[in-house]
Amino acid sequence: MNRLSVKTKEVRFPVAKTLYGLFFEDINRSGDSGLYPEMLRNRTFEDSLLPAGTQAVDDTHTSISSSKGWGGAFNHGEGLSDWIKGNKTPYTPVPAWYGDKAVLELDEADVLNPKRRAALKVDFEDGGSIRNIGYAGLSVKTGASYTFYMFAKSCEPADVVVKLTDVSGDAVYAQAAFRIRTGGYVRYDAVLATGAEDPDARLVIEGPKSCSIRLGFISLIPADTYNGHGLRRDLVEKLAALKPAFMRFPGGCIVEGFNKESLLRFSNLIGPVWERPTNWNLWAYNTTNGLGYHEWLQLCEDLDMKKMWVCNCGMTCQARNPDFLDEKEQADLLQEAIDAIEYATAPADTKWGQVRAAAGHPEPFGMDYVEIGNENYGPEYNLRYAKYYDELKRRYPGIQFVANTHTERDGLPTDIADEHFYNTPAFFAENTHQFDLYDRKGPQIFVGEYAVVAGQPGTLKAAVGEAMFLLGIEKNQDIVTLTAYAPLFENVDFCNWYPNLIAFDNSASYGIPSYHALQLLGSNRGSNVVRTEVDCASNHTEVSGLFGIQTHVPGQRFKDVRVDGQSAGISHILLGDVTEADGVYNTMGKPMSGRMASAPNAKTLMGRTWATFGNAPGTDSVMDVTAWFDGGITFTVFCRQQLHKNRVEAWAANNVRRFEWTIQDGASRVVLPRFMEEARLAPDVGLKLETGWHDFRIVTRIDGFDVSVDGTPVQTARLATFPSIECSADTDADRILVKIANFTQQAEEVAISLDCEVADGYAVEILTGDPLAENSMDHPVNVSPVSEKRTGAGRLFTYIAPAMSLNILKLQGNS
Ligand code: AHR
Repeated sequence: MNRLSVKTKEVRFPVAKTLYGLFFEDINRSGDSGLYPEMLRNRTFEDSLLPAGTQAVDDTHTSISSSKGWGGAFNHGEGLSDWIKGNKTPYTPVPAWYGDKAVLELDEADVLNPKRRAALKVDFEDGGSIRNIGYAGLSVKTGASYTFYMFAKSCEPADVVVKLTDVSGDAVYAQAAFRIRTGGYVRYDAVLATGAEDPDARLVIEGPKSCSIRLGFISLIPADTYNGHGLRRDLVEKLAALKPAFMRFPGGCIVEGFNKESLLRFSNLIGPVWERPTNWNLWAYNTTNGLGYHEWLQLCEDLDMKKMWVCNCGMTCQARNPDFLDEKEQADLLQEAIDAIEYATAPADTKWGQVRAAAGHPEPFGMDYVEIGNENYGPEYNLRYAKYYDELKRRYPGIQFVANTHTERDGLPTDIADEHFYNTPAFFAENTHQFDLYDRKGPQIFVGEYAVVAGQPGTLKAAVGEAMFLLGIEKNQDIVTLTAYAPLFENVDFCNWYPNLIAFDNSASYGIPSYHALQLLGSNRGSNVVRTEVDCASNHTEVSGLFGIQTHVPGQRFKDVRVDGQSAGISHILLGDVTEADGVYNTMGKPMSGRMASAPNAKTLMGRTWATFGNAPGTDSVMDVTAWFDGGITFTVFCRQQLHKNRVEAWAANNVRRFEWTIQDGASRVVLPRFMEEARLAPDVGLKLETGWHDFRIVTRIDGFDVSVDGTPVQTARLATFPSIECSADTDADRILVKIANFTQQAEEVAISLDCEVADGYAVEILTGDPLAENSMDHPVNVSPVSEKRTGAGRLFTYIAPAMSLNILKLQGNS
């Protein structure tokens, strides 16, 4: 029996009103086609143009490479090959656009305005037409209207008809006729009202008579948007239901960019949408930035969210062969950050206030937080952070500034430190105490990005694992004052990162189980956090896997590999290569492709090898190996593949979870590699080994592993445990909210004791089910909470928390 004591009379601190917020980044085509409901893909016609500062890696433009050697998929501007395959997109030189008796050509000279890189020149034969296939088709609905406009010009007056049709073009749902005039570009508008439902419609432009026109920009957006402010209604409603306290925007890695040209600038996110430059982002698609700075501020106002702007601090993404911008470029970016704050905060009669007023919002929006960079770190970051912080804090003392790392540990002023966690369900359940010992005099903590991304992501189990972690945070909300799940949205036809809180296609949307857990937590907030004491069992996650060896330099020799006394061979090579001669293995780097070979880190990658031993993943196993030691060696323990969308991932370095034992620099250490850091499984011990052959042994158990060299024990690694239940409680005038997460596979009885009287009847909301259950377009609320009325509450009563569940008990105080 688990015991939970709720001490309502011991108020620990007020709840942090800002605790549950949102993080929006344009990833998985969540801007254009998503929250910003543009229905036409490639509305600027620029998608196939090589992004600034990149070169094509091959003649077919499948990949691009930055000047620093970072490479990504391009596919003529269509993005990831999976998207092309999944959507059965036939090749076209102008992505999303096709012609029938019409020749399409990009014109890079006669463009709409200086921000546009191309226009579409169309030569129609008699009866010719062009069509746009949208983002996996266009979804039109019965009785709905769509706002259409295009900027066009022609040498001769040209009559065209714009239609919404079915896929064959035979059924016409709406149409509008225009005479395209001669001279400069002119905007043509229409409202297209449809009387039919079709999730796979097309936009067609017909030229009944032979003619030649140029299109400078084109758009089609549902007339019905949230508050009439241009954003997709069902998606904003899903956000509103989370009762979010703030929104972090616009990223994420896209703020950093993969090169100087692709980093996000405030100046590119304002003004009329047809005057905003497009941006090929590092998630492999071109965005038109329709969801820009003003639109985001407006959304924050509409949902009463505080605003957290993230600015680039003078460097590109450090995980993608970074470019460190020079002093002048840094100064320009700092000025952009100042301009952005001015736009949001300055009165209407100032320079930026006037620009905002012209966009329809004379009153300042305000600004609450500014994050300096995203996931940046190290001395280069500290230099830039200090410069930004000093200047911005001096000008805007009322804004709280967010650092990407614990800059206070390097002696820099830090209001808020941002920590990111991407891991397994077990990791989150095992780390409910993550913040218990943080310095209360230190900066506030922002858990700016977190999600289960490995080991059953997107499932109920993932949601409950995260909920355990969040309840741990609730008990530390005197210091952790902001959290946000990441990423927020996914267009299911263009998924690049999985999972995401809300999935959508052109017609519908649903929240993954984590969404429902967050909705429960976000909408059940009292005023004060009270003391809770939990007495429950500690558990180990079932863990099993293979042993392996990792080397960072070529030429690591080893022999006589035995698992449980049986000779074991190499089962998987995850990095590099291994040769064998006379029973002795030797590691070597693998030759790299042309692009990889020219990357700055090619040398390091060249030497790296990771191989696993044997084919029988075990929990209680012994591995023996004799290996040549020459300064450093790493063995991997419990190597196992991950489940991704319930499919087992291939054996590849980025899909395999493991623990590590490393001997280097005179010390032995056992660790769990984690996102951006590693967690020690025991204190390091000093260990000096002579160069030469040594016998290494690892003995594994469910709760850890022992390592020894030449028969001498060195260390015992202890794997983390998770509590059967995690709880938190908060109160207001007459309510006690008790939140219980159960991460075990069985129902847990919880004896709840209170220090006050409560009414017998109470309400409870429960999220539970099959641990591996997910939601989908076909079953959008397969995993969703149920509400029940219960009786039997009192000073001492028992609540049974179902297996793998999150429970919110709403008790009525009688005192
Ligand atoms: O949320 C997806 C990405 O994860 C973000 O862009 C980045 O900040 C993190 O690495």
